[in-house]
Amino acid sequence: MRLQKYIAMCGVASRRGAERLIESGRVLVNGSLVDYMGCEVDEKRDEVSVDGKVISPEGRLVYIALNKPKNYVTTVSDDLDRPTVMELVSDISERIYPVGRLDFDTAGLLIMTNDGDFANAVTHPSHQVDKTYIARVNRPLERSELESLRSGVELDGRKTAPAKVEPLGDPKRAHEVKISIHEGRNRQVRRMLEAVGAEVLSLKRVAVGSVTLGSLPEGKWRRLKQVEIDKLRGRKNHDKGNDNQR
Ligand code: URA
Repeated sequence: MRLQKYIAMCGVASRRGAERLIESGRVLVNGSLVDYMGCEVDEKRDEVSVDGKVISPEGRLVYIALNKPKNYVTTVSDDLDRPTVMELVSDISERIYPVGRLDFDTAGLLIMTNDGDFANAVTHPSHQVDKTYIARVNRPLERSELESLRSGVELDGRKTAPAKVEPLGDPKRAHEVKISIHEGRNRQVRRMLEAVGAEVLSLKRVAVGSVTLGSLPEGKWRRLKQVEIDKLRGRKNHDKGNDNQR
């Protein structure tokens, strides 16, 4: 479809207004300036931005992975006026929101979407989606402490569900542990480690289900692949094509 028609369809401007935007050099297609008429775009594949903001038609479902730095809140707004993760995704025009939460002082993988059913599926306890964290602690953990973490420690009078816990590197020297849990209790990983007497120096989430943080730079986001979306949703059939998001 014609670029100006697509811009109008996204509600950014009228068709004529879209032509003016193009002519004045405010429109990029897949990162390249398009300031002439006659450009065609494929609405399913091409990324169009106006004044640096990616645009899309209303109702388009968006699923992203953000590498949240610490000292950002995972709410849409904050009473204390602290930085929110929304500031890191301001180049997305849809109203996306975080799926679950990470503490202010926790960094790492945060999934965001505007698909409420998907968000429910990922956070609902019955789905038992594993969340994997790397915690840096003040000392190596004893074998017995690792075992306690694996089998469950008492928090608020209730034992945590079995967890996968591995020290990273040489167990005698390791000051980092990898922990996978599927529950989502308040500050759960920090409190589990505190329960065995360790002090958490930093905490980072590296995976949610099979979606991993990989080499995504801190403060940056990427779109989830269709197979990642389907797996998180709990669907077995991953070959639906990537046609429900840009
Ligand atoms: N566990 C924590 O302690 N903090 C988080 O942000 C997530 C899990």
